[in-house]
Amino acid sequence: MCGIMGYLGNQEARPILLQGLENLEYRGYDSTGLSILSETGEFQSVKSTGRLSALKSVLEKNKLSGNVGIGHTRWATHGQVTVENAHPHLDCNNSVAVVQNGIIENYRQIKENLQSRGHIFKSDTDSEVIPHLIEEVLDQGQSLESAVEFALTQVKGSVTLLVTQSKIDPKIVAARLGNAGGLVIGVEDNELFIASDIPALLPFSNNIMFLNPGEIAILSTDGIEFVDDQGRTIEKQVSTQLVNATEPDKGEYDWFMYKEIMEQPDVLLNVLRDRVGIDNFSLELPELSSITEQLPKINRVILMGCGTSYHAALVGKGFIESITKLPAQAEIASEFRYANQVIRDTDLVVALTQSGETADTLEAMEKAKQAGAVLIAITNVLDSQSTRIADASLHMRAGIEVGVASTKTFTASLLILYILSIYLGKNRSSVSEIELTEHIHDLEKLPEYIGNALNESPNIHLLAKDYANTQYFLFMARGLLFPIALEGALKLKEISYIHAEGHPAGEMKHGPIALIGPDVTTIALAPNVPNKEKTETTIEEIKTRNGVVLGVVTAGDSNLASRLDGCLFLPSVPVNLVPIVAAIPMQLFAYFIALEKGLDIDHPRNLAKSVTVE
Ligand code: F6R
Repeated sequence: MCGIMGYLGNQEARPILLQGLENLEYRGYDSTGLSILSETGEFQSVKSTGRLSALKSVLEKNKLSGNVGIGHTRWATHGQVTVENAHPHLDCNNSVAVVQNGIIENYRQIKENLQSRGHIFKSDTDSEVIPHLIEEVLDQGQSLESAVEFALTQVKGSVTLLVTQSKIDPKIVAARLGNAGGLVIGVEDNELFIASDIPALLPFSNNIMFLNPGEIAILSTDGIEFVDDQGRTIEKQVSTQLVNATEPDKGEYDWFMYKEIMEQPDVLLNVLRDRVGIDNFSLELPELSSITEQLPKINRVILMGCGTSYHAALVGKGFIESITKLPAQAEIASEFRYANQVIRDTDLVVALTQSGETADTLEAMEKAKQAGAVLIAITNVLDSQSTRIADASLHMRAGIEVGVASTKTFTASLLILYILSIYLGKNRSSVSEIELTEHIHDLEKLPEYIGNALNESPNIHLLAKDYANTQYFLFMARGLLFPIALEGALKLKEISYIHAEGHPAGEMKHGPIALIGPDVTTIALAPNVPNKEKTETTIEEIKTRNGVVLGVVTAGDSNLASRLDGCLFLPSVPVNLVPIVAAIPMQLFAYFIALEKGLDIDHPRNLAKSVTVE
């Protein structure tokens, strides 16, 4: 979702802004723009629809020069994808430029009021009210920071923004109201960088400061100053990020998604490292030390997330119930935040969010926190907002995921949930020493099992070639494989734009079986797990009606394979690991279908990697 980048220093701002925005491309966007202050303090702005390459072409003809600027990649919410609606937005006098991420819920009312006072709007966006609100305060002779503070008192919703002003000593004012994505500041001698996320700053600075909701940062040639929403000064420390200052690289692969799928054995090894001792059969989660004293009182676990992270929560519910032996429920965070849920201080709430910035998940976390629940975040981004809201965080350690469709962060989430379930069970004495040893034996082999599942890639590609023109896919499974069926359907629709649905196999005859016909292919997840024969019965019911059925089947199960139209084979693995390993053919099948259709796999239409608006 929208990416923000700002620069104030002594170098040309243009290439720095472009590089920063390029490193934020993974978030998803549909238009771009820059405003740079010229030597004489005037704004020079360039905007374009489409990708950054289109903006670069415009900049070839119009080389903006200056040492201070702000840039934006826009993911449209209000107003279509047009040059006029792209950011930065300026006021009537061209004296302030604004880039914004978030949603201003009361913008219509503010816009009408501003128009009645003579303001002329050039876009259909909600964001454009900000520069006009600021303009009115600047006209009264107040400072840029006072004007931003005032504008924030007028808007309802969540916003993250950068504002810069023409014809004054160079200054960028940054502000956050609510949870509409983060802002990270990179501090170097005589130079300040500010962006939505750390990857944008990696080439420029490792000295990082974070802006929290309700805070304002004033970046100037004198340095940086932080104030809270009451205008009181805040002291902040610079932290040094121990990050590799290189951009993610596709290496030998054509698409990040495929690279990220193939990386999963290493990612899962990383998840296990220091947490699971293979030699001494130990299992520790030192990241939870701050909440261990509170764990004995927990009598229910609520897991939540959006999209793929919700599917991980569904599997997590199963792990917690079967391993920890605690009641558990999985919730869609965008629903949970508004639901009349009973949340108690004896609940453990586990929020799953690879980006750590999903607005709905963050708000659901705030709700759980206010109710006194113990709160854990499982995230791939250290220092993301989710880790600041949670009482404790478990890092996915998956490395930057660039492909918009989550793959390695999904399996990393599942593995962490499995480890967490054992950890909680150990803590509550519901997992015996013998069971712990068995679990660790299984976990030790997981990266190898994932590698074996990935070895099926060429066969899955062949199958995908045959089915790339299918119009509808129906995924079905039982138990802990049902969330994997949902995930298979989501992956496929996200990147191939083919209609796909996931259903519990037992529900087929209660409605979905009516869909079976020549245009529909069913994918049945039926590897060797308890109740497999029940799924086989449903397969028979579909075959009897001349339905086409592909199966996710354990290698060597020739009996079932012979009754199917095609197979995606899985290695034989312990039952608890089946959902994690079964995610692999789902990801590969979706990837190869999209490849056959010649689509932009890493940047599927309309989607964003970091969903920072509601
Ligand atoms: C699908 C996908 C999305 C995300 C969802 C939540 O491939 O990636 O469904 O899972 O937008 O994102 P996070 O996990 O960042 O909260």
